[in-house]
Amino acid sequence: MHNVTVTPEVWERILAIRSGRACSCCGNWSDGESAALDLYGPLARRDLGPITVAQIGQSLDGRVATVSGDARDVSGPDGLAHLHRIRALVDGVMIGVGTALHDKPRLDVRLCSGPNPARIVIDPKGRLPDDALVLRADGCRRLVIQAVDRKRPAGVEVIRLPLVDGLFAPQAILAALHEAGLSTLLIEGGGITIAGFLEAQLLTRLQIAVAPLLIGAGRAALTTPNARLTLAECIRPDTRVFGLGSDVVFDCGLTPLANAAALPLHDRAKSSPCQTASYLS
Ligand SMILES: NC(=O)c1ccc[n+]([C@@H]2O[C@H](COP(=O)([O-])OP(=O)(O)OC[C@H]3O[C@@H](n4cnc5c(N)ncnc54)[C@H](OP(=O)(O)O)[C@@H]3O)[C@@H](O)[C@H]2O)c1
Repeated sequence: MHNVTVTPEVWERILAIRSGRACSCCGNWSDGESAALDLYGPLARRDLGPITVAQIGQSLDGRVATVSGDARDVSGPDGLAHLHRIRALVDGVMIGVGTALHDKPRLDVRLCSGPNPARIVIDPKGRLPDDALVLRADGCRRLVIQAVDRKRPAGVEVIRLPLVDGLFAPQAILAALHEAGLSTLLIEGGGITIAGFLEAQLLTRLQIAVAPLLIGAGRAALTTPNARLTLAECIRPDTRVFGLGSDVVFDCGLTPLANAAALPLHDRAKSSPCQTASYLS
């Protein structure tokens, strides 16, 4: 396990990677800062094409809520800060309408510096009320993906897609968002939404942040619609493990590109000559 230390200097570098002003392979960093570059560098880079990352914060026993639906504070403070860092690195953060209605998240960046992402809600039937927090007008782009003919508040971009067997094809959702200029995406939940993209093999990475908490009974973090009968059929992703302090992150690469981008810092520096070393003084 690699223990991550996010100093202001390394976070500034990661934001510079995001905006194409710096590389992710050079510099004199402590072990903890190198681990931060290893964890966040693949999400910050824009030279690798579109990225779709999903993130779940869960208990030790794989749950995200109690039986009564209490889902606040499953993640510890470092797990929450991690989520905000991912938000700062992506173009857009997407949730299913279930999460928008239940958790009423703001989906902005408050626990670190960095830009706020566009906010996207998948709401096929138009269940999200106009005064939902995710739709507030605060200068960020707001998009709703829907099948129904429903007007949304001024400034909210509507993407209409057809339903196939009651669902949008995850590939059609991604294509529409890329067309809208959003190519690096975080799917922040819930489990139904993430499972759809996982089953369609459209996730570049899946990050599971585990907090030392036993919920015992309640909502499972992830349940895929297609049951696998043998362990041999199950997904065994290449996984890196990072200690964040209060939480442990399992960072799963789900595509060859994801795994290439996740070479450790020192191996990256050796394998490809740096093109942006002039950034370093
Ligand atoms: N700990 C965490 O990391 C975390 C993060 C987020 C949420 N949560 C928890 O997760 C729970 C909510 O999650 P959830 O899994 O029930 O719901 P969800 O994934 O937030 O929303 C599911 C709904 O979104 C729509 N949807 C998603 N993908 C679609 C597709 N491909 N095509 C058409 N519609 C699609 C559907 O809406 P319709 O039903 O209208 O058809 C679907 O029922 C809450 O308990 C929340 O607290 C936990």
